[in-house]
Amino acid sequence: MGDRLQGYSLLMPVACSLLPVAFISQLDEYSMSKKVYIETYGCQMNVADSEVVVSILSKAGYEPTENINDAGLILINTCSIRDNAEQRIWGRLKAISHLKKQKNDLKIGIIGCMAERLKEKLIETDQLVDIVVGPDAYRELPLLVSEAEAGHKAVNVLLSREETYADISPVRMDKNGVSSFVSIMRGCNNMCAYCVVPYVRGAERSRNPESVLKEVKELFEMGYREVTLLGQNVDSYNWDNNSGNIGFPELLEKVAIIDPLLRVRFSTSHPKDISDELLYTIARNKNICKHIHLPAQSGSSRILKLMNREYTREWYMDRVNAIHTIIPECSLSTDMITGFCTETEEDHKESLSLMEWTGFDFAYMFKYSERPGTKAARKLKDNVSESVKSERLCEMISLQNRLSIKSKKSDIGMVFDVLIEGFSKRSFEFLSGRTSQNKVVVFPGGDFKKGEYVRVLIERCTSATLIGKCI
Ligand code: SAH
Ligand code: SF4
Ligand code: F3S
Repeated sequence: MGDRLQGYSLLMPVACSLLPVAFISQLDEYSMSKKVYIETYGCQMNVADSEVVVSILSKAGYEPTENINDAGLILINTCSIRDNAEQRIWGRLKAISHLKKQKNDLKIGIIGCMAERLKEKLIETDQLVDIVVGPDAYRELPLLVSEAEAGHKAVNVLLSREETYADISPVRMDKNGVSSFVSIMRGCNNMCAYCVVPYVRGAERSRNPESVLKEVKELFEMGYREVTLLGQNVDSYNWDNNSGNIGFPELLEKVAIIDPLLRVRFSTSHPKDISDELLYTIARNKNICKHIHLPAQSGSSRILKLMNREYTREWYMDRVNAIHTIIPECSLSTDMITGFCTETEEDHKESLSLMEWTGFDFAYMFKYSERPGTKAARKLKDNVSESVKSERLCEMISLQNRLSIKSKKSDIGMVFDVLIEGFSKRSFEFLSGRTSQNKVVVFPGGDFKKGEYVRVLIERCTSATLIGKCI
């Protein structure tokens, strides 16, 4: 559970992962040399949003730079999901404060979820911050930047019921050119008791399916071979128009039939909403990846009720059984929270036993972090001590390590179609890619190029990687 994950990692919510993705821009005809550098923290939605932000600013004459020292505008796209995510951003602001001293006209903007949560307070608390923009106000960025340049406080944190940025073609910031994120909806209506997302991202709204399909087709034509459709709860995607309505299974299939060479992933499914119809759609389309991220959060029905997750342990197990029956080769991953309000040792053991029973291939695990204003903060006591939260987290991580290794070992001797993403991190002689099940595979390179599919026989594994040879 590293703090920094790859921004374009396909391993589910990058909620825990804090990755600076850099950008700059060279100034347009109006200014001398304005460049924008953007760092992105938080989940995949933020990674996708930063691409929208760069697109909006490019139209206003900015170009992205990867060198923070060249930038006239630094934007930090922030996350509020846990207190440590926000602390990291405060730390980052401190670390870049020297740049402001060196360059009088440098402007610093906080955008995204923390901007939404703290609003003007950000400018009041930190003299470094000139611009504060919430996730639904990015179209206003060029105007707000000019206001800041004119010496005014520039804040827009209005949430919208309609904004989906459907018409904006994101400027792709990934480095590999193989896989990309496509936002299909924004916001969340689910009010899980611990979660800040509904407050900082607003109400759920779905994006016009035509604009989703257009974006995916463009990506495919640019050479991308994998898209991940993003939403906080993709199962509740719903687009109404005169000719009826389109739900998530239908949208997913429409994306899948764009081209058989395009792999399609999605994140995140909610256990209360994931339908058999969706599972059959995944099963019958070869290029819809056989991996589902289905965050359980807890294995105790009592805690799930307090979390307002709207399902029980038994319901979750029923959904896992349905997945195994309908898509036998499907891998499963989860998010888990330890030490939620009133969690007892017995509740914790139920989380562990659910993980063991399911045999997750991968998991993101977190200590509960109380977020101001959420239902849990208002109504429940954060009464599990920090040390108990940590102990339970450690126990959970070591269980998951065992499960992850077991999952990889079971692939030894099998052959998988692997989409090549580039060289392995360790050596240019090896290529790296993923299976449909989202497991990383490393194998000797040969003449293959990224974006191509190869069949790989798995010969051995480490705790994180499958190792094999092309056949
Ligand atoms: N929409 C997704 C999750 C988005 S947030 C879903 O419903 O699954 C990503 C993960 O962060 C959550 O699944 C949860 O495990 C974790 N998380 C959210 N709020 C948290 C909090 N207050 N403390 C600790 N972990 C939290
Ligand atoms: Fe948060 Fe729950 Fe919405 Fe996920 S579904 S974003 S955990 S409120
Ligand atoms: Fe994502 Fe963090 Fe916001 S998880 S939606 S960036 S609070």
